[in-house]
Amino acid sequence: MLIIKSGNPLKQKTDAIVLPVFEKKGQYKEAALNEIVDSALKMPEFSGKASEDMVIYEPKGAEAKRAILTGLGKVSDVTETTLRQMAGRVIKKAIGMKLKKVVFVLPDAKGLKAGREGAARAILEGAFLGNYIFDKYQSKKEKKTVEQIELFLEISPDAALKKLPETVEAAGKGTFFTRELVSDPSNTKRPDQFVERLKSAFEETGLNFSWLEKDELEELGCGAILAVAQGSSVPPYLAFAEYTPKTYEKTILLVGKGVTFDAGGLDLKTAAGMLDMKCDMAGAATVAGAMKAISQLKPDVRVIGVMPIVENMPSGTAYRPGDILNTYIGKTVEIGNTDAEGRLILADALAYAEERWEPDMVIDLATLTGACVMALGEKIAGVFSFNKKLADQIVKAGDVTGDRCWAMPMPADYKKLLKSEFADMNNMASSRYGGAITAALFLSEFVKTKNWAHIDIAGPAYQMKPEDYCAPGGTGFGVRLLCEFISNL
Ligand code: BES
Ligand code: ZN
Ligand code: ZN
Repeated sequence: MLIIKSGNPLKQKTDAIVLPVFEKKGQYKEAALNEIVDSALKMPEFSGKASEDMVIYEPKGAEAKRAILTGLGKVSDVTETTLRQMAGRVIKKAIGMKLKKVVFVLPDAKGLKAGREGAARAILEGAFLGNYIFDKYQSKKEKKTVEQIELFLEISPDAALKKLPETVEAAGKGTFFTRELVSDPSNTKRPDQFVERLKSAFEETGLNFSWLEKDELEELGCGAILAVAQGSSVPPYLAFAEYTPKTYEKTILLVGKGVTFDAGGLDLKTAAGMLDMKCDMAGAATVAGAMKAISQLKPDVRVIGVMPIVENMPSGTAYRPGDILNTYIGKTVEIGNTDAEGRLILADALAYAEERWEPDMVIDLATLTGACVMALGEKIAGVFSFNKKLADQIVKAGDVTGDRCWAMPMPADYKKLLKSEFADMNNMASSRYGGAITAALFLSEFVKTKNWAHIDIAGPAYQMKPEDYCAPGGTGFGVRLLCEFISNL
């Protein structure tokens, strides 16, 4: 739980008071706080450099049992990202120390690029996001999350600051929902189970949740979704979560790839390539997490979450290389590779949803290509759009939330790489290179609106190494980005 307070932090009875420290003396208004900080800065092991921490027990003049001093480096270098990382790191340390209540003191905002509100938001976000443990499959639950996190300001919070805990928690809980769905193993989230999970999660949100089943997809002619799913013993679903405010002018579609396990199909992946493929539904999970957050943030645009959900498996009934299938809009696709399944299910989902809801804008998210990870590494998502302004808006929203994105080119002449001898298109490009771009160009054939962007999250959706405010597993990348983006519309 997050709380913002003002007054004297020294008076707080708490397990720990957290004092962010710059590389300079006399940075707090309270003399007693300065005394604690300045005496620590005299020690050789602590200079306030970024990511240095020091614990002082029973600090002088404070009711807190401990003071955790945490370095931020030079004031001029501190950004929202530094603050978010600091808070996440401290909360993880607090979890390790078994603390129940932690009080952060907001550092003096003067000279901070983030400003007071930005700094407060970043600290609350980092602390909230860092306070997450995924241990549901471990018999021994050794760690417990911190029960109460407070942020102390020297002045009473204005209306904008007062609202922060609620908005940070809403987007944070959406992020946790996404993380959990992505981290869960594929034997617990096969398409039928996944839809059931979404259904019960959306029950409490007031959103309208519905889905199409295999026979309905057959009637509609969603040949691409059906083809990908046909190797699995579980049928496909196309699920929708609708947020409709009382009055609205614009409708935005969020579409997410939901491959609950990607074995590659008959073009089977290698053992190493398959290992993390439980994460291949991260696009759908991101859409689900964002919809959950949106149900609380209540923006004044209509938002429709669209989630095609399938398992891509090899078997006697699996679709084959060389097969030609008919998509929802009637374009035929020859299968060059059964492992390029994400673009197929998205093709039908995008086309069907665009026809049904006539949106003003469409954004899809997908762990679509290994090529995007090659291009941008594991921490940065690729944004693909013919609308440069839209791409820039997404990149900007990501800069604010710390979900880093990079706008990629959409060269029309690369479309010829998707030519097929026998069908309208091939799902696999004829070149080994530029695979993230050709995948995006494939999708573009199934969307009409110019206000469409595709975000390839194959790199940042999942991680095996811990980060400051995120444990190994699903990261929830994109949920806060979408919330930020939509709040700016
Ligand atoms: N799910 C994978 C992409 C992926 C790779 C996600 C690594 C997360 C981490 C996707 O379905 C896939 O297999 N893409 C192929 C496309 C190729 C066959 C044209 C790829 O990237 O190799
Ligand atoms: Zn694949
Ligand atoms: Zn995939």
